[in-house]
Amino acid sequence: MKIVVVGGTGLIGSKLVNKLRERGHEAVAAAPNTGVNSITGEGLADALKGASAVVDVTNSPSWEDAAVLKFFETSTRNLLASETGAGVGHQVALSVVGTERLLESGFFRAKLAQENLIKASSIPYSIVRATQFFEFVKQIADFSTMDNQVRLPPALFQPMAADDVANAMARIATNPPVNGTVEIGGPEKFRLDELARLDLAARQDPREVISDPHARYVGIAVSERALVPDDNAQLGEAHFKDWLNESTKQAPKAAQQPA
Ligand SMILES: NC(=O)c1ccc[n+]([C@@H]2O[C@H](COP(=O)([O-])OP(=O)(O)OC[C@H]3O[C@@H](n4cnc5c(N)ncnc54)[C@H](OP(=O)(O)O)[C@@H]3O)[C@@H](O)[C@H]2O)c1
Repeated sequence: MKIVVVGGTGLIGSKLVNKLRERGHEAVAAAPNTGVNSITGEGLADALKGASAVVDVTNSPSWEDAAVLKFFETSTRNLLASETGAGVGHQVALSVVGTERLLESGFFRAKLAQENLIKASSIPYSIVRATQFFEFVKQIADFSTMDNQVRLPPALFQPMAADDVANAMARIATNPPVNGTVEIGGPEKFRLDELARLDLAARQDPREVISDPHARYVGIAVSERALVPDDNAQLGEAHFKDWLNESTKQAPKAAQQPA
């Protein structure tokens, strides 16, 4: 199958392109630096010629409310129009578990707008809602830091490895469209504050993590279950502690490299 991965040079996109190629598919990494731009439309028609499926794993360069909404609306409209022109039979998009519970944030309002455009189009689709990637835990801690303290709510959290996200996207893109939403998540549930503590400790980061039921998750007030998927979510295999051991093993070596 020819599958176009829009955002194919990003964290998930680059892993997905490799996994599709390993399985014998023709995977095209479409992104501005490969000559394909879903905002300006540059290169889209050519890239989509003969494609069976298009996977959208783009992200907006700016997360400011108006900019992120404009990005996902414009990009999704352009992709859907080009797919109609090229006769593409499957639009796959990566979204986030709990999006409708996180609408206090402009980012999630933009993700919901993206989902709604896909649902309203005539192209058969699969929307994949993933939980947060392991790689994102440190960014959450950084976002929640004030005066060297990290303040986080003890909300349930079920993160997954970017590798497992890419595996799920490859599986879904090469199967018939579900015309609905599939949830994917990690194999274990944690408390968000507990997970940030584990992550920072493994990185020998001295910041203290304070459990605060009133603290916000990236600026959003969240209930205990806002970030976790339903019981029927498809679960990845990688465990957070194994991933953390592996990824922090590399760090001290890198720090010892001469400048
Ligand atoms: N972070 C999480 O925990 C999480 C959880 C669930 C779902 N998600 C979703 O997963 C998706 C992918 O995330 P990611 O971390 O893999 O993103 P990423 O690493 O930031 O990659 C984004 C990709 O989009 C491309 N892109 C940007 N503007 C573009 C344009 N105008 N036309 C075509 N491509 C463009 C980028 O290309 P350049 O590098 O060339 O700019 C890059 O290849 C996002 O939509 C996000 O909402 C994230």
